[in-house]
This record gives sequence, structure tokens and C-alpha cells, in this order.
Amino acid sequence: MIVVISFQSFSQVTVKNLKCEYLENPIGIDEPHPRFTWQMELEKPGSHQTAYELVVGTTETGVALGRGDMWESGEVNSSVIPVLYKGKELEPFTRYFWSVRVKDEEQQWSAWSEPLFFETGMICQHNWKGKWITDTYDFNIKPAPYFRKEFDAGKTIKSARAYIAAAGLYELSINGEKIGDHCLDPMYTRFDRRNLYVTHDVTENLKQGQNAVGVLLGNGWYNHQSTAVWYFDKAPWRARPKFCMDLRITYTDGTTETISTGSDWKTALSPVIFNSIYTAEHYDARLEQPGWDEPGFKAENWRNIMLTGSPSQNITAQALHPVRNVTEIKAVDIKQLDENTWLYNFGRNMSGVTSMKVKGSEGITLRLKHAERLGADGWVDMSNIDVHYRPTDDSDPFQTDIFILNGKKENEFMPRFNYKGFQYVEVTSDKPVDLTKESLTAYFMHSDVPQTGSVNSSNQTLNKTWAAANASYLSNLFGYPTDCPQREKNGWTGDGHIAIETGLYNYDGITVYEKWLADHRDEQQPDGVLPAIIPTSGWGYHWANGPDWTSTIAIIPWNIYLFYGDTRILEQNYDNIKRYVDYIDRNYPSGITDWGLGDWVPVKSVTPKEFTSTAYYYTDALILAKTAKIFGKQDDFEKYLALTEKIKKAFNNKFLNRETGIYGTGLQTEQSAALHWGLVPDELKEKVAENLAKRVEADNKHIDVGLLGTKTILNALSENGYPQLAWEVASQETFPSWGWWIVNGATTFYENWPLDAGRDISLNHIMFGEINAWYYKGLGGIFPDESQPGFKNIKLKPNFVNGLEQFEASHNGPYGKIVSSWSRKGKTVEYKANVPPNSNASLWIEGKKIKVNGEDLNKNTAIKIAESDNNKYRLILPAGEYRFEIK
Ligand code: BGC
Repeated sequence: MIVVISFQSFSQVTVKNLKCEYLENPIGIDEPHPRFTWQMELEKPGSHQTAYELVVGTTETGVALGRGDMWESGEVNSSVIPVLYKGKELEPFTRYFWSVRVKDEEQQWSAWSEPLFFETGMICQHNWKGKWITDTYDFNIKPAPYFRKEFDAGKTIKSARAYIAAAGLYELSINGEKIGDHCLDPMYTRFDRRNLYVTHDVTENLKQGQNAVGVLLGNGWYNHQSTAVWYFDKAPWRARPKFCMDLRITYTDGTTETISTGSDWKTALSPVIFNSIYTAEHYDARLEQPGWDEPGFKAENWRNIMLTGSPSQNITAQALHPVRNVTEIKAVDIKQLDENTWLYNFGRNMSGVTSMKVKGSEGITLRLKHAERLGADGWVDMSNIDVHYRPTDDSDPFQTDIFILNGKKENEFMPRFNYKGFQYVEVTSDKPVDLTKESLTAYFMHSDVPQTGSVNSSNQTLNKTWAAANASYLSNLFGYPTDCPQREKNGWTGDGHIAIETGLYNYDGITVYEKWLADHRDEQQPDGVLPAIIPTSGWGYHWANGPDWTSTIAIIPWNIYLFYGDTRILEQNYDNIKRYVDYIDRNYPSGITDWGLGDWVPVKSVTPKEFTSTAYYYTDALILAKTAKIFGKQDDFEKYLALTEKIKKAFNNKFLNRETGIYGTGLQTEQSAALHWGLVPDELKEKVAENLAKRVEADNKHIDVGLLGTKTILNALSENGYPQLAWEVASQETFPSWGWWIVNGATTFYENWPLDAGRDISLNHIMFGEINAWYYKGLGGIFPDESQPGFKNIKLKPNFVNGLEQFEASHNGPYGKIVSSWSRKGKTVEYKANVPPNSNASLWIEGKKIKVNGEDLNKNTAIKIAESDNNKYRLILPAGEYRFEIK
């Protein structure tokens, strides 16, 4: 008998970067239809996925073999991610495994991926067992409360999870050890509408037998004791911080036990004698209670807790990249200013905290003043950042931690419930103490979003400008985007949408923005109006909340859609965008609106508010119309498309001189905003662009714009025939320009153009940050394609500008790493493009003689020439790595 053994042949195709809900193996998610994403590894040019098969199941072994007892997608002929879970209803507190395999263009299947997992949390409010607890003090008392409970875990523990929700901030410890490496959990939300809970895997922290759980609560934005112009101390939700926790233990025998917050917990005041998210933290080491969170502690003077109400009826999972102390930064320099004062310089501006280690006698008090700049006398100067602070006495100095030593061993202090914006720290002691350069360490703290983009060039100022914008972007990302990490820490909407592309080219921010848009929905009035800052305690519904700022509701979801190809955020916010656009339509039936702030912090010229606000109104209506189309809502699509036409007509009738092609008085913001937001009639685009170019030349190739103009000026030039001029403006190093800050030592972006401006002078604002995104677009030419979003198709329109020898931009999009890079070799430009597997690129390129990977363009069979006209080409590039020589 002849036995024929057939081997199934697997091709090289493999998948990588598998994520669920844009997180790696997340635990504690409440989403009923989690999203799955992955990338293919490039096996050969043109590789792409023709089908996938995805399984979800309760056993790792089953899933590894391609069997899912929860869901088997079957073979789906699609190459698009994300894929949505469509299986059986997910149970709470359950780990599900998943695996995917993909079929390539040669009909070869990859192996099943190593199983990954996601784990559900509460799923539903009624699964909470714990009660909300607090202590008996009112919200004015300063010290932060400790809470503790001991319990006996009678059997061998298989796994354990802590689910903890807090109004305010918490630090959780078990058996004397802090749990996790997150900072400032849970993230800030509108506490009376929605609260976040965090899930921790605490399997390793518990032991069979006696255990102790400790919780320290901070005020955060919930109990804002500091007083400033936004009235957070008057927030309608304000109360003494509280929390609710379920510690769910699964034993090896399969049984579960939940240790919950309830009346048997004890509380006491902690050594954190004051904490304010806005100003600082004060710590008295003399009040430490060693062992307070360990078993066997004698909690003699501890009090009973108080049961209290839940802050809202909506407690949901915090499913986003956490805030962490991401980068440790050592002092570059220390100077003794007088007998008891030292100045630490950390060499760069940042958001975060410092950690002090010091030995000294009992009662010595150190004051650590954090500031962004020094005064002429060489001491720290806070006058640029404390202007909106309204202290009622001197007990809560701005950005100043106070640390009292206990005289025992080395004392260590790092605030737990605060962060600051700073480069310098002035440490003053009331008695002699020994400090060295190593006594103080800084931590750059921010939402720990993975980096997805980078830019590098032969121009050092460009490289530093790119890095400084990123430093400001991250300094302003704390689970919601802020304007600045020192003076305000407010979720200013305008700053948020202007920076969205800079954010998304560089960082994997989807989880943070989805959360922030949920904050938007919590804040929106029934009539559609949004506040200028989100979240808010109520401030911002009266001022600064016109479409030039609160268009976040449309612009953020739209950009997430473009960068990720994911419609969920548009779906979640569709009605909100509609309510918002309808509000403007009802109140400004002419199509022209002057509701807004205008071109904020301009260099000199001021564009009328009704010009910029109407441009944003148009943008929102257009996003709404396009979204309606995506979702097949034909009536809405037609209605809002008609609205965009009405607005455009009114706008052009009012501002455009059709003879001259000049908008208004022809300012940089006017000409460029009309072009960038698509308001210019097609036949006049060239003329309007030419007038913009003339204006810029007349302005000595320097910017004359404010915030809204920074979004449009470089893009409008480079996308309308003037990339060289755009580069000349972008690369200026004299006032007013971004380079001017950099050559004067900036490591972050500023809030104002002159270095000696009298107001609006934070040194860490992201609002002028669009130039960073422009490097990717205007020089690298990397654009998402609206018709195939998520960089399924990549638009590549590089500009090889004169005066720059070499440039490279890369972006790791949903399908993989896109690279666009060029350099000059004499008269030849060498251009390299990487197109990730399972995607294509359209490349616009110009040259008399073009070679690809060593051969003539015309001879290359992989590349399709879609258009060619007078040495100008539009090429279709399948996945692969390309090297062009262009003459
Ligand atoms: C903030 C800005 C914000 C502006 C709007 C300022 O105080 O720092 O970034 O957009 O107010 O008015």
C-alpha cells in the first residue's frame, strides 16, 4: 500500500502587532463589540491580505488551533481592519483568547497567530458588589485619607483582579506594595456624569492567608481646593474624595470570593497633608504610619468609614493608555543660591513631578518651587504661569511642594496627586541640609501613548522643532488634551483640534481621543452647545466656545477616521455633531457666524472672527455630510450637503473679491484658511493661492497669523503650488517663527511669538504645533486618503524643497510603517518610499528621467502609471520598498 502524505504548505506570511481595542492584551474592558487589529509582515512586494479568519474562545489551547467557542468569523474576504467582535454575548470578569490568520494574494494562509487575550471587566453596573466609601470630614479638610482592610484568603489563589473606581484620585497598595505603575488614576471626567474604574491584575500581590489592602485618596479635579479663575472649587460635584472597590479572587478550586469596600473598612489621615492637582502637594514624613497597608498593623486610632452615594450612575472601564512617569530626567546643573537654597536645572521643559531623597533632622521643611524660567536675578520666576491663580492665603503656594522630614533614615518624597510644568526647581530648606545634584530627579509624566511617527532631516532646527512640538504635545496629554501643564491644565477644545494631526502622525492616540469625545458628550447641552474647556465644572459655556474652538466634536472624530479607518468614533458622536451643527444653523441662518474667539494670539494682523468661525462652521457641516454618506443616511447627506453649499456661498459673497481673488483684506489667515478648509471656488484657487504667496512675500516670508492661521498657512501654500515658499516660512529662524524659539533655546513650544511678550506666555503650549504635522505632509507628503482611510491607500506627495539636503518622515499606521524619505545627490534626488503590506500608495512625482529600484520607470512592472503629463506622474505603488532616482 502506498501512503501519500501531503504537507500543507504555509507561505511566509505572518501577522504582528495584534491589538484589541487598540491595546495589547487589555484587562477590564466593558466594550460589548471589541475591535481587533493586526499588521501583516511584508513577505514580498505587493503582499496583501485577501481574507482573514478570526476566532475568540475561552481556552487558549482551542484558540491556538483555530477553534473559538465564542466566535468563529469563518473566512471573510476582506483586507480591512479593524474587525469587530460579533460572537456570543461577553460575560463579565472573563478572559477571552483570540487568534487570527490571514490569507495572502497567493491564497496561502498564515499560521494561526499566537493566542492573545482580552479580559472583560464589570460589563454592567449591577455587577459591582462594593459600596462607595469616604471618611467623615468635609471637603475643606486638607490631609488625604487612608483606608484599609485586612482579610484572610483561605485557599490557594489562581488569579485576582482589583476593580477600583474613584471620584478623585487613588493609590492602591496591597501588603505594603503599590499596585501598578500608573499615575493620576482614574482619569479626569465630568464626575457627576461618568466615572472611570481601573482594573489591576493583583494575582502576584496576594497570598494565601492574611492580606491587607490600603487605599490613599487624592483630590484630583473632584475636590479642587485651590482657587483660580475657572471656579473648579465651586464644581457642582465637589465633595470629599470617595471610592468603590471589588477585589475579585479566583481560587485554584474554581471558587471566587470578592473583597469589597463596605462598612468594615477603617480610615485615618495620611502624611499627605495637602494635595492639589492644580498647585502642588505637601507631605509630612513625621506622620508616616509604617505598615499601615500591611497585615497585622494596629489600626488603633483609625476611624470607621462612611458609606456614601455613587458620584454618577455611569461607572465605566478606563480603557486607554495610562498616565505614567515615562522618562526619568536627571538634573544637568545645580547651583547654590544662598545658604539654604539650591537651583536645579533639568535642561528641558516638561510636565511631571520631581522626586526628592534627603536626610536631615526632624521637622526640617523643604519647599520645592517648580518653574519654567528664571528671573534676571537667577532665581525662579513664576510670573508667566501663576497669573490665573487666586490664592486666598499663603498656605498653598503655586507649583511648590512642601516636604517635612522626620529625622529618621533617608526620606523620600514624590507627589502622588499632582503634576506641574517646569524646567527648574528651587529648593529651599528652613535649616541647613545637605543636597547634591542627585537629591532631586525629575519625571516627564504624560499619557503613555506609543510613538508612531518620526521625522529626521539634515536641518538641526527642523529636528529640534519637531521634538519640541512633541514634547509639548505629550506635556499636554493626561487622558485629555490640555493647553498647558502649569497655568491651566484645561482641556481647551481649540488647542485640541488644532493639534490633532500632530498628535496622530506621532502617537497612537485613539484611546485618549475616544475618551475625550465621551467627555464631550457628557458636557454637551441639549441644544447642542459645548463648553470651551472639556471636562469643565461649568465654566466655558459663556465664552470662547464658538465653532473655532468646539469644532472638536466634528474634527477629532473625522481625523481619527482618516488615521485609523475606524468608524466607531464617528458613529458614537454622529448625533452630537448633528445637534451642534443644527444649533449654529438655527442661530445663524444666514450661514455666517461670528461666534468664537478668532485668530488667537496673532503675530500682528487680526482676521475678523466671522471669517474664521464661518470657516469652521463650514468644516463641521461638511464632516457631518460626509459622515452621513458613510453611514448611508441619504436624507442627512443631502440636507447637510445643501447646508455646506449655503455656507460657502454666503462666505464667498461676503468675503471674496472674485475679480482680484482676495479674501477680506488678503491677510495670511484669510487667504490660507479659505484654501485649506475648501471654501475657494475651483476656478479661483490658483489666484487665491497666488495672492497668498504675494502676501507672504510681502511679509518677508514670515508668518503673520494667530492660532487658527498656524493650522492653515503652511498647508495652504504647500498644497496649492508653493511648497518652496512654505518651507522658507517654516524654516525661518528670525522673529516671528517657530525657529526663533528654537534658536533661543526652547525645548517646548511657546504660547506667544515674541520672547518678551507681556501676556499669554506659557512656555509649554501645543497650540502652535501644526508645523510638526506639516513636516509629514508638506515635506514627506504622507497623507491619509479619505476614500480608503487608515492609510489603506497612502497619498504620497513629497516636496523636495531647495535648501534642505535630506528629509525623512515615517508613520506606523494601521497597516504598518510608511516611510517617505529623500536626499539630494548632486542634481539627482533619491526618493525612498516604504508602503506597508496590505496597503497601496498613490505617489505624485515629477522628473525628466526617473528610475525605480535601478530600472527605468516605464520598465517597472510592479508600479502602475495612473497618470502622466509632461514629466508629472501619478503612480500606484503596491506594498514594497522603493528607491527612485529622479533627475
Ligand atoms: C489658553 C489657550 C486657549 C485660550 C482660549 C488660554 O488661556 O491657554 O490655549 O485656547 O485661552 O481663550
